[in-house]
Amino acid sequence: MSSLNIRVLNKEDWAIYKELRLLSLQDSPDSFGSSYEHEVLFANEEWVSRLDPDNRAKYARPLIAELNGVAIGLAWGMLHSPCDKTAHLYQMWVSSRVRGQGVGRLLLNKIIEWAKNCGLDYIYLAVTTTNMAAVHLYKTIGFEPCGSSERLREISVLSVQPMRLKLCANVASQTL
Ligand SMILES: CC(C)(COP(=O)(O)OP(=O)(O)OC[C@H]1O[C@@H](n2cnc3c(N)ncnc32)[C@H](O)[C@@H]1OP(=O)(O)O)[C@@H](O)C(=O)NCCC(=O)NCCS
Repeated sequence: MSSLNIRVLNKEDWAIYKELRLLSLQDSPDSFGSSYEHEVLFANEEWVSRLDPDNRAKYARPLIAELNGVAIGLAWGMLHSPCDKTAHLYQMWVSSRVRGQGVGRLLLNKIIEWAKNCGLDYIYLAVTTTNMAAVHLYKTIGFEPCGSSERLREISVLSVQPMRLKLCANVASQTL
């Protein structure tokens, strides 16, 4: 029987995170603003620092999905400042071996749950316009296009469309 686990990454997970993130950048170069060539040069301290709760990760929700203990997916919710009412979704990736089985939706729902618990109003992301799997996922969850598209990278021919999800108050607080 297979077991899927989604959990928050902590500092001690930096090597797993590094491996998975670099794999995602190699696997899906058109899905991310950053690149394998850029991040492979990071020192190990940078990977630790990304996950350090006393550092940038203080306002972040870095999630990993594991299937039978093997890392298969990533998603980051990020607040750029503690006063922000909008979270940003970054680094969303599911291993091609297990796509189409609901892992991406589960990861995203966990980020939404976190953002609601933080009392935020919106989740914002940017998706490559030709990435139909991701665009469909975000639309079925309720994300809507906002603003005009921009280039994925300075020299890229691909465009990204900003999308955002308005977070409703949860049912319990609506009925009070
Ligand atoms: C986008 C991605 C994260 C989706 O993960 P996933 O685990 O395959 O997604 P799920 O199985 O949870 O699918 C959820 C919904 O997404 C949509 N979807 C997923 N794969 C799809 C595909 N190949 N074509 C069309 N829609 C698709 C569907 O709406 C699906 O809902 P349904 O099952 O009710 O039809 C995954 O394809 C991926 O990692 N792609 C490469 C990296 C990437 O593009 N990241 C996004 C950066 S913005």
